[in-house]
Amino acid sequence: MVAIGVDIVAIPRMRETLKRSGDIFINRVFTGKERLDSLQHQDAAVHYAEIFAAKEAVFKTFCTGWNGSMSFLDIEIQKGTFGEPLVSLHGEFLRLFSQKNARNIQVSLSWEEDTALAFAVMHAD
Ligand SMILES: CC(C)(COP(=O)(O)OP(=O)(O)OC[C@H]1O[C@@H](n2cnc3c(N)ncnc32)[C@H](O)[C@@H]1OP(=O)(O)O)[C@@H](O)C(=O)NCCC(=O)NCCS
Repeated sequence: MVAIGVDIVAIPRMRETLKRSGDIFINRVFTGKERLDSLQHQDAAVHYAEIFAAKEAVFKTFCTGWNGSMSFLDIEIQKGTFGEPLVSLHGEFLRLFSQKNARNIQVSLSWEEDTALAFAVMHAD
């Protein structure tokens, strides 16, 4: 079985949110590693927009509602050797992933000017 998810994020909106909510928003949504990776990007708002889109796209592959045990901190997006996004799950998302007997989740990212886009595919038995 394959499950898909897609999300787009407006980069100016992310820039505004970062300005307005600063650390409160960042700490609630992005892991320490994701925050560290933002320092490598020439524009942190683009990085956060891409990562946020990835988290939403991964969430959509689960085909479930949002429950109180879920946190975007438990969907972590990192870059592999060649810059490819890699997904690691923790907490409730890891629990649901195991429950589905899922094998892996792949994410593809793209951005241009004002928009970041993420597409996710979950492979399950
Ligand atoms: C449901 C959610 C994924 C929709 O995202 P959005 O950015 O508001 O809207 P998008 O345009 O990206 O996606 C909308 C589409 O996603 C799909 N969708 C809605 N709920 C979905 C779900 N639970 N799983 C998968 N896809 C879903 C629908 O096709 C929807 O289309 P529609 O609006 O025509 O019905 C999102 O709002 C959400 O629940 N996110 C997680 C919860 C959250 O953000 N919590 C706060 C933590 S800080």
